[in-house]
Amino acid sequence: MTKNKHFIIDFDSTFIQVEALEELARISLRNNPDKKNILKEIKRITDMGIEMKMSFSESLSKRIRLLNANRSHIELLHKRLKNKVSVSISRNKEFFRNFREHIYIVSGGFKEIILPITREYELPDANVFANTFLFDEEDNIVGFDENNVMAQADGKTRLLKQLNFSGDIYVIGDGYTDYQIREAGLANKFYAFTENIERTSILDKADHIAPSFDEFLFLNKLPMAISYPKNRINVLLLENIHQAAIERFKQEGYNIVTLPSGLEGEELIKRIEHVSVLGIRSKTHISEEILKHANRLISIGVFCIGTDQITLPECSKKGIAVFNAPFSNTRSVVELALGEIIMLMRNVFEKSTNLHRGHWDKSSLGNHEIRGKRLGIVGYGKIGSQLSVLAESIGMEVYYYDIFEKLAMGNAKKCNSLPELLKKVDVISVHVDGRESNRHLFSDPYFRAMKHGTIFINLSRGSVVDTSALVKYIKNGKIKGAAIDVFEEEPVSNQGDFSSDLQNLPNVILTPHVGGSTVEAQKNIAEFVSHKIIEYINTGDSIFSVNFPNLQLPEFTDSHRLIHIHENIPGMLAQINGVLAHYDININGQYLQTNKEIGYVITDISKTWDSSLIRDLKKIPGTIKFRILY
Ligand code: NAI
Repeated sequence: MTKNKHFIIDFDSTFIQVEALEELARISLRNNPDKKNILKEIKRITDMGIEMKMSFSESLSKRIRLLNANRSHIELLHKRLKNKVSVSISRNKEFFRNFREHIYIVSGGFKEIILPITREYELPDANVFANTFLFDEEDNIVGFDENNVMAQADGKTRLLKQLNFSGDIYVIGDGYTDYQIREAGLANKFYAFTENIERTSILDKADHIAPSFDEFLFLNKLPMAISYPKNRINVLLLENIHQAAIERFKQEGYNIVTLPSGLEGEELIKRIEHVSVLGIRSKTHISEEILKHANRLISIGVFCIGTDQITLPECSKKGIAVFNAPFSNTRSVVELALGEIIMLMRNVFEKSTNLHRGHWDKSSLGNHEIRGKRLGIVGYGKIGSQLSVLAESIGMEVYYYDIFEKLAMGNAKKCNSLPELLKKVDVISVHVDGRESNRHLFSDPYFRAMKHGTIFINLSRGSVVDTSALVKYIKNGKIKGAAIDVFEEEPVSNQGDFSSDLQNLPNVILTPHVGGSTVEAQKNIAEFVSHKIIEYINTGDSIFSVNFPNLQLPEFTDSHRLIHIHENIPGMLAQINGVLAHYDININGQYLQTNKEIGYVITDISKTWDSSLIRDLKKIPGTIKFRILY
């Protein structure tokens, strides 16, 4: 199939990530006090040559003069360049080995630099066309062979004319001289390679833009090291998601579009059709109607904690894995709770308000240290248990109550019932979840059961506390101080008006649901969610997904991984294995998990398989999505 195909590949900024002469200058000029300026000048001349703003041989001679390099510098350069082969090229080393007779490196660079690198990829020296240095007797580089065709301004096109290939010619490069081969009618296609640098002058002239070598192989149906080019994975990030996520997806090579706001209705539908990964926060609603158009969607990242804005069962039915960040703001909530305990014990908030109004009250009456006081934590989950550790470390005596059996942290003491805890402690901090049965968990009877002068903190959910009962017990002095971050009714937007019976009460700290809202938490969320999505795409690992059966998978080495998502109906595993048996496929490992909606089966198989195997697996009735990874 490739018999009559010729792949012409540029070297600098294409085969390798950098411009080799610039790297050489970094080595040869390392002790030169004017290094910075000379490097800048070399870069300027390189760009002028690439963009045809200076004749090529002039740009070469100028750079060689500035370089002041010798043979030993070239040897050091090889060591550096071996680690700077373009990521997608080094990933596809096997392609270079298997197709070496069809691959030509055509470069305005120098053979002395290029050959040691291309030999590692088993390319024949005879297929490398580049300039050659001239050395003096002391091995200093003093010039270049001006008779070499590659030293000419239009060296690449001249060379291709001389080579006079028959068959199809494909050119991959980042510079204008690569495009010129195509412009001269000497190549069928020109691929602008943008993995390392994007030169705008050639982007609109290229037949295709190749953000990676995988894309080139994919377009030409050539064998690739990975199952799908990552640049084809379209990621849409809405609602100003933190830069850390953008960076992470970029590193992975995905194609990213970001928008500062949320989207809804037609606008969201129009975009979601082309998207493989969607990132949202709390404002974008993903309904069943929207999901009807999300046929390419693999995963949704919810870059916050709650997932109420998404119809999760519908996502499962479409084979879309949803990830959120359940732990990423735990520490932020804990720190606020701890700070508020101190503020309330010292009446700081009330004293500050009084002072703002001009009233000086220096008395110590009713002000306490938190050391030695008893803290009661209700709900000993992620936040409750971390608060336990920090509170104990600054000297509080910690008691906790949870409906489930929880391991005590440090010296914390478990209470067997909530009333037992309420009557023991000086401070109560509520960290239960928002399940329906927790509605008004704290109402008249439990407030009544508390010690006189208790401090009450709720940073969990507004619904958990009966506000009118809390107000009553603050007013009658049973509750000495309170810090409330969550309310039974909260404004939907930042501009919304807020009113509550808790307003204007002394020693009551009110905050607008910001317990978890810190810059650090936003960054943690961005890192956690993007990492989970990338892991899911690369390995199928679904651990922490909020709607998928959770499978934590081993690495797959020496095998290919089949990912089969299907309706949870009886006999699916048997059918999958029936197909595998029919093709005589050896299973290296198999993992299955189901939930109410779907079944998730991962099968690692040996590397040789027939493409009709994939067709048959996809044809099993009830299949929702199928992917193969390698
Ligand atoms: P989690 O799920 O890890 O912990 C909740 C714990 O409460 C579980 O151990 C559960 O067994 C326990 N629980 C539930 N009902 C209970 C009851 N009636 N009595 C005793 N224990 C009970 O959740 P996490 O991450 O610790 O979050 C706790 C709460 O904090 C959640 O309601 C969450 O929505 C809220 N939160 C608030 C934030 C804010 O900005 N204010 C930020 C992050 C979370």
